[in-house]
Amino acid sequence: MMVRAGPLETLVKPLTTLGKVSDLKSGIANFYDESSELWENMWGEHMHHGYYPKGAPVKSNQQAQIDMIEETLKVAGVTQAKKMVDVGCGIGGSSRYISRKFGCTANGITLSPKQAARANALSKEQGFGDRLQFQVGDALAQPFENGSFDLVWSMESGEHMPDKKKFVSELARVCAPGGTVIVVTWCHRVLGAGEAGLREDEKALLDRINEAYYLPDWCSVADYQRLFEAQGLTDIQTRDWSEEVSPFWGAVIATALTSEGLAGLAKAGWTTIKGALVMPLMAEGFRRGLIKFNLISGRKPQ
Ligand SMILES: C[S@@+](CC[C@H](N)C(=O)[O-])C[C@H]1O[C@@H](n2cnc3c(N)ncnc32)[C@H](O)[C@@H]1O
Repeated sequence: MMVRAGPLETLVKPLTTLGKVSDLKSGIANFYDESSELWENMWGEHMHHGYYPKGAPVKSNQQAQIDMIEETLKVAGVTQAKKMVDVGCGIGGSSRYISRKFGCTANGITLSPKQAARANALSKEQGFGDRLQFQVGDALAQPFENGSFDLVWSMESGEHMPDKKKFVSELARVCAPGGTVIVVTWCHRVLGAGEAGLREDEKALLDRINEAYYLPDWCSVADYQRLFEAQGLTDIQTRDWSEEVSPFWGAVIATALTSEGLAGLAKAGWTTIKGALVMPLMAEGFRRGLIKFNLISGRKPQ
């Protein structure tokens, strides 16, 4: 069957692919190696959506990102932690925030060597000593013993995982009995009864986004819930925060279009520019109800 793309996707496709499809893991590593410094300069240490509930007073984007962490902990029922793992840690913003809040240690893994180095440097500068440690590591084969952590945290890395089942099984494996597993991630909409998959126009939109952001196939929050259940996790919570994050992409586009943003993009390189070109497609995906911003959490039984 012919795949029919909308006009925006068609326009963006030749720019994003340049005829090349790179290996997913090295593509992700390179994407974050190249773009993280610009993101940090423009947005700071958190590389995730902000939480902007309707009717709440206007706040800064940085505060909205912190509120995302706070809301996530609240929904998951986490009020303390001793040892956390930050799976897909970026430059360690969540680890530092949660470590300050609960006094816990944190180990973070990322595919990007530059992010791991920057996460370690920032944490040393901010006086965390050896309590926070970041390294290059794969979420699908985590370099940790079974049951090592009472808080297993994945903030916006799940969308990069090519094998969601393995991803959730690794999160559950490194979680200690009684500990909590949290995934906050991009999903596609939950399929309706009788629907075998997304529509062709929806797949075409996600394809363009996948090429630019190094993403494999997407799944829905209902798929994640089944994977959590299959791992024996209990007290499962899910949330759809697509409304609450809706101001985010407009804000990112606005910062990209400042003189500092444009100069930073030109300096960062083509992979980062590709990412910027696709931002309106993310906004469109949310508008169409195709892209969802979801939380899934669960507890490992004692
Ligand atoms: C959007 S950033 C989120 C960073 C961080 N969680 C935050 O909220 O600031 C996505 C992160 O996922 C990481 N990632 C993607 N695939 C991964 C994998 N297979 N193993 C480990 N990290 C991965 C990337 O390296 C990057 O650090």
